[in-house]
Amino acid sequence: MKNNRIPFLSFDGIHDDIEEELFQAAKSVIQSKWYILGQKVQQFENEFSNFTSSKYSVGVNSGLDGLIIALRALNIGPGDEVLVASNAYIACWNAIYAVGATIIPIEPSADTFNIDTNLIIDKISDKTKAIMAVHLFGQMCNMTKIMDIAKIYNLYVIEDNAQSQGAVLEGKRSASFGHINATSFYPGKNLGALGDAGIITTNDKILANKSMSLRNYGSSIKYINDTIGLNSRLDEMQAALLSVKLKYINEWNKNRLQIAKWYKFQLDDIEDLIIPNIPDDGSHVCHVYCIRCENRDDVQEKLQHKGIQTLIHYPIPPHLQKAYQFLGYSKNDFPIAEKMALTSLSLPIYPGLTEENVIYISENLRKIFQP
Ligand SMILES: Cc1ncc(COP(=O)(O)O)c(C=O)c1O
Repeated sequence: MKNNRIPFLSFDGIHDDIEEELFQAAKSVIQSKWYILGQKVQQFENEFSNFTSSKYSVGVNSGLDGLIIALRALNIGPGDEVLVASNAYIACWNAIYAVGATIIPIEPSADTFNIDTNLIIDKISDKTKAIMAVHLFGQMCNMTKIMDIAKIYNLYVIEDNAQSQGAVLEGKRSASFGHINATSFYPGKNLGALGDAGIITTNDKILANKSMSLRNYGSSIKYINDTIGLNSRLDEMQAALLSVKLKYINEWNKNRLQIAKWYKFQLDDIEDLIIPNIPDDGSHVCHVYCIRCENRDDVQEKLQHKGIQTLIHYPIPPHLQKAYQFLGYSKNDFPIAEKMALTSLSLPIYPGLTEENVIYISENLRKIFQP
């Protein structure tokens, strides 16, 4: 990759070195002549359970479906309220809506981008059933506090581990705190499939069995349907490829952390730029490196002119999306989420991005802020 063209995401540093292993894994699925719910899915589920120290993993076909199935396994539906960050990814809101429950948005802390745990208790009502803890950008939520609140108020916790695969908080992996948790393996995630895929983790056998049934038409015995389920099975091909990639996730996460350190070294002293606070305790796996500045659109355009591709996570918060107009929210209802949408800019970060690349990106940022 040349310095004068830096894409937002590149798989070169991830897939090139393990291409042969991926080919072998794909070949073994083709030759097995078994493509749905076979040994590869079971093997990956076991591996992911070990990785997250969860008793059970249930492979599904996306992160969104994982969240929907998790909510359904908990019997959350119409009349129930679920607390979620106002700046969460749209899938989190969509999952709550999909099961017929009521979305109760809570502002994030501007420091971590995650749900502000000081605001949770005020939003709990007698209809509240669960807290959806979305670990945004790779930073885990304050799970100790969330689990404490959940215990006191008798609520369920669903972790959304899509952006925090491999993160550890006080010795415990992301996706092992909540009662039932969902992960996306969208290709760009820290651990990404080569297509759509997801998984549910839990320590509760009943929830695991319910999830297994819900992902497969509500059936645990072929052609016997206990509930109206989905077709949301992780397929053998993605499971086999994920088994290969899981071996490298810790190494890749280390690489991401190193890149974040290079950025910090380069950008820390630029006054009008807020860089992310990345603790050194393993609780952040740098899925997204999100900086904030007032003149965000201008900065993005100038970087683009220098061949540096950036993205915005996310340009419109869920409550202002057309899809959620019917909820009746308007501007200023969630000012922190709105401010983040206006000022956030995500810089390239992925295994294989070099220090030279980071210096080039940082020098160009410096020229914008200190012309
Ligand atoms: C935080 C979060 N939750 C849920 C999802 C949904 O995952 P998927 O795209 O696999 O449905 C994503 C992925 O894009 C995500 O980033």
